[in-house]
Amino acid sequence: MNLLITGGCGFLGTNLVGHLASHRPEYHLTVFDLLTYAGAKSNIKSLISKGSVAFVQGDICYPDQLDKVLEYGIDMVINLAAETHVDRSILDPGDFVRSNVFGVQVLLDCCRKKSVPLMHISTDEIYGPAPKGVSFREDAAFSPSSPYAASKASADLLILAAVRTYGQEAMIIRPVNNLGPYQYPEKLIPLFVDRLMRGLPVPVYGDGKQTRYWLYVDDFCSAVELAIEGFSKGECHNLSSQTEISNIDLTRQLIEIIGCKQELIRHVDDRPGHDRRYAIDGSKFVNKFGWLPKFELDRALRNTVKWYQDNPGWLKSRKTKEFEQYFDRQYGSL
Ligand SMILES: NC(=O)c1ccc[n+]([C@@H]2O[C@H](COP(=O)([O-])OP(=O)(O)OC[C@H]3O[C@@H](n4cnc5c(N)ncnc54)[C@H](O)[C@@H]3O)[C@@H](O)[C@H]2O)c1
Repeated sequence: MNLLITGGCGFLGTNLVGHLASHRPEYHLTVFDLLTYAGAKSNIKSLISKGSVAFVQGDICYPDQLDKVLEYGIDMVINLAAETHVDRSILDPGDFVRSNVFGVQVLLDCCRKKSVPLMHISTDEIYGPAPKGVSFREDAAFSPSSPYAASKASADLLILAAVRTYGQEAMIIRPVNNLGPYQYPEKLIPLFVDRLMRGLPVPVYGDGKQTRYWLYVDDFCSAVELAIEGFSKGECHNLSSQTEISNIDLTRQLIEIIGCKQELIRHVDDRPGHDRRYAIDGSKFVNKFGWLPKFELDRALRNTVKWYQDNPGWLKSRKTKEFEQYFDRQYGSL
């Protein structure tokens, strides 16, 4: 199997590439990544130098760049290339429309020309907020609240239209929030872990009672590994976990694991359009693939905290001047 992984230098991509390289050594893996602020080639450096992974720097918005890599007999594309940070999408949605909508259409067109199946990674955020007691199934209406979620919902619509119109070989996976190593430190868990380890306060939006489901990234990778083998054209699959937790309880748990003071919590103005609850029903994927997440939240959090504690150099290298400017703009002098 010759796989092209777009966005393979970001959080999920880095973990997936590492997972497939060790669990599926028979696969040929090529990473195609623009290397935006969120992607780092150094994440997969050792795999590149061992010859387990090939790397091409490129942008999914350019068909000529994609055509060139698709020449090499690619059997499937897994698309993880995207702008992903909700707060940035509120400040400046343009890049999100470019990569997450236009880029996906370009990718679809290029894959179709070469009859290459496309597995697209979407998100639970496309469904919008779920009332208490409700978990959205795959056929629920889209009701995105942020420009990020709207851009992801738009991509799903374009993919589903291509399936119906051209019979295109494409499938969609919609995961809940993931946690684990190599996540850019603007995101809640690495941001909080980094600051708590340094005894700095952490910004919790509003009352912090917004709830999310969390999935350890290793479980995400094992799910994608199964979906590659059981590629199901035209299907959408939610990918959920068993653990729903509020942001404030998650923060308290991180504080406990790291061993610092609960007083480091600072409530800041809520994010505009902040969804109170995401919840999806993941039974379709579980029933089809016999997959279940192995990591309970406490173990996943401990593993994640340990990884950031053991890799201070990684965090330091990702906190560029750009990151500092973003943090100041977002949270001021916290
Ligand atoms: N991380 C999560 O918890 C989560 C949950 C649900 C869905 N998702 C989805 O999974 C995918 C990957 O998320 P992530 O957390 O790894 O994101 P990330 O921001 O960590 O990584 C995105 C990667 O895409 C690359 N990229 C961006 N624009 C590109 C372009 N135009 N061409 C080529 N490469 C480009 C970046 O350089 C980066 O390496 C996204 O589509 C996201 O919406 C993520």
